[in-house]
Amino acid sequence: MKGIVLAGGSGTRLHPTTRVTSKQLLPVFDKPMVYYPISTLMAAGIRDVLVISAPDALRALRALLGDGARLGMRFAYAEQRRPRGIAEALLIGEEHIAGRSSALVLGDNLFHGPGFPDLLRGAAASVDGCVLFGSKVADPERYGVGEVDPSGRLVSIEEKPELPKSDYAVTGLYLYDADAVEIARGLRPSARGELEITDVNRAYLDRGKARLVTLDSDVMWIDAGTEESLLEASGYAAAFAREHGRRIACLEEVALRMGFIDAEACYGLGVEMKDSPYGRYVMDAARHWNGTQQR
Ligand code: G1P
Repeated sequence: MKGIVLAGGSGTRLHPTTRVTSKQLLPVFDKPMVYYPISTLMAAGIRDVLVISAPDALRALRALLGDGARLGMRFAYAEQRRPRGIAEALLIGEEHIAGRSSALVLGDNLFHGPGFPDLLRGAAASVDGCVLFGSKVADPERYGVGEVDPSGRLVSIEEKPELPKSDYAVTGLYLYDADAVEIARGLRPSARGELEITDVNRAYLDRGKARLVTLDSDVMWIDAGTEESLLEASGYAAAFAREHGRRIACLEEVALRMGFIDAEACYGLGVEMKDSPYGRYVMDAARHWNGTQQR
């Protein structure tokens, strides 16, 4: 399965902070925001990731992440010149996807919780159609909304409806089979001139091939695209580190636990950042690694 991180958008909801930098490079506690969605893909076992962003932001993202080899990953980069909708990522990523299944994650979507990596790996193991992840929220009208019938079957999906049919937001993590590119190619721009990901998902639903996996309440999901949610995300990551002594979305540690790199390589990556608590955490993770823990 191939991964795509869409780190696009003009970040106008965070102006002036995002006037000269990209939202996905802003810190969420101890690391750039984009680390979180990348860690989600890594936890799903995905090693081949295309990062899509606007030209300026892409240069910075490339400088930050490189080709991924140091993490046992492969990062490639592609431009989205103007924000033309989330579904355009599937078209930009067509060559990268190369007829395979794919996992698309939005660069400002953070997931964390016990059991989430296992849930994700299970869902990613065999994707027939599309798999969406629903999270119960107080303000569903801000999101894509999935309606499920009493048996848990997905019956409708709507983008930012005025009168939501359920409390389940469709989160910004989408698993697709090989048909996604062809579906995206057939889309017409919405009233706001965008290729809507919700239209891709609805096309799968019409084919009877869309599944909504609802996330338990102990799985944290944050769309960190507003000043309040950005602060909430940092607070969550900081509190988790304080209470559990674990830093979430630490890419070096995830790579180690997933078996993408060995302890020596991980330690070396930590040493390069030894002046920061994050760097020292990476060194500790490598030092205490016994090769058997699962993420
Ligand atoms: C996008 C999607 C929406 C989804 C949300 C998740 O909205 O269009 O369906 O629920 O991401 O973060 P946006 O944040 O671009 O308004």
